[in-house]
Amino acid sequence: MTTERTLSIIKPDATARNVTGQIIAKLEGAGLRVVAQKRTRWSEEDAKTFYEVHKERPFYGDLVAFMTSGPIVMQVLEGENAVAKNREVMGATNPDDAAPGTIRAEFAESIERNSVHGSDSAENAANEIALCFAPSEIVG
Ligand code: CMP
Repeated sequence: MTTERTLSIIKPDATARNVTGQIIAKLEGAGLRVVAQKRTRWSEEDAKTFYEVHKERPFYGDLVAFMTSGPIVMQVLEGENAVAKNREVMGATNPDDAAPGTIRAEFAESIERNSVHGSDSAENAANEIALCFAPSEIVG
């Protein structure tokens, strides 16, 4: 078991419905600690840079439009196996496939408006954290 950090984003569909606290409670309940947190609104350039790996996918334009449509809450989560643990508590990308009790099963509206993002590997977590936070903003 190793202590890891991962990047989490609470998406505009969730900030619009004022459920950020309920989502954070699920993350903390899973043993993850919020060691950095920032509520912001992305520019188009911010969203395109963050989701660059998806730029050839058919949903890229819609994803960028959605992620810039309202406020988001970016977080660094820390804990044992934080990358995998966060993905477990988030549930599957498509809420129709998400296990009962997961964040997406309870809050997501669709595969696009799916309430949360979580890094999918330790390597991507390090890159995403560096993109979203200065080292001095992360207080473990
Ligand atoms: P996220 O974990 O933020 O990473 C990429 C996002 O693209 C994903 O969550 C979904 O919200 C969004 N998306 C929209 N359509 C699709 C799709 N068909 N397949 C996968 N991801 C999709």
